[in-house]
Amino acid sequence: MTILKIDSSITGENSVSRVLTRSIVDQIVASDPGIRIVERDLVDEPLDHLTLAAFADTFVLDEFLAADTVVIGAPMYNFGISSQLKAWIDRIAVAGKTFRYTAEGPEGLVGDKRVVVAVSRGGFYDRGNSFEHVEAYLKPMFNFLGIEPEFVHADGIAVGPEQREAGIANGLAEVERLAA
Ligand SMILES: Cc1cc2nc3c(=O)[nH]c(=O)nc-3n(C[C@H](O)[C@H](O)[C@H](O)COP(=O)(O)O)c2cc1C
Repeated sequence: MTILKIDSSITGENSVSRVLTRSIVDQIVASDPGIRIVERDLVDEPLDHLTLAAFADTFVLDEFLAADTVVIGAPMYNFGISSQLKAWIDRIAVAGKTFRYTAEGPEGLVGDKRVVVAVSRGGFYDRGNSFEHVEAYLKPMFNFLGIEPEFVHADGIAVGPEQREAGIANGLAEVERLAA
């Protein structure tokens, strides 16, 4: 069994999404100590913007397909995901490999895989908030590939120190609930 841990926050040691991805991986390892962990830091080792030529290199896609569980840190930058994470998504959404179009409509080809996404956001976003393009993008994106992703959230991070602590505590509590 393999976990693929994807981080995409630019804020290093101050990153909230990185706290949550670490906690999610720790929880999984606690219940399965033999599990293999592959870490991909999209800030330390960024992927280029997508080009047609990039489709020839299937390393990122193969790494995604090989993982049983994928843990993704998704900080909100300018209401969407980081461009580093978008470049990764661009490598794993590949026609004929992870989805296909049929006469009945699109079909996701990635079946049996767990995806857990840690969302960290400066403000607060109720469901349906039209500024929210992190979960509102990643959920249908993974659904399109045939996966129902799970989400944990740390919100209000930029509001002030107390809200930051409360947001992190809420995110960690959601991680505990996922494990339960
Ligand atoms: C470049 C940048 C852009 C941001 N844009 C937004 C935004 O549009 N909306 C928001 O609520 N918070 C925004 N924030 C706050 C982050 O979402 C918040 O700090 C969150 O913790 C980021 O995750 P991280 O700590 O893992 O980097 C932004 C932060 C940065 C650094």
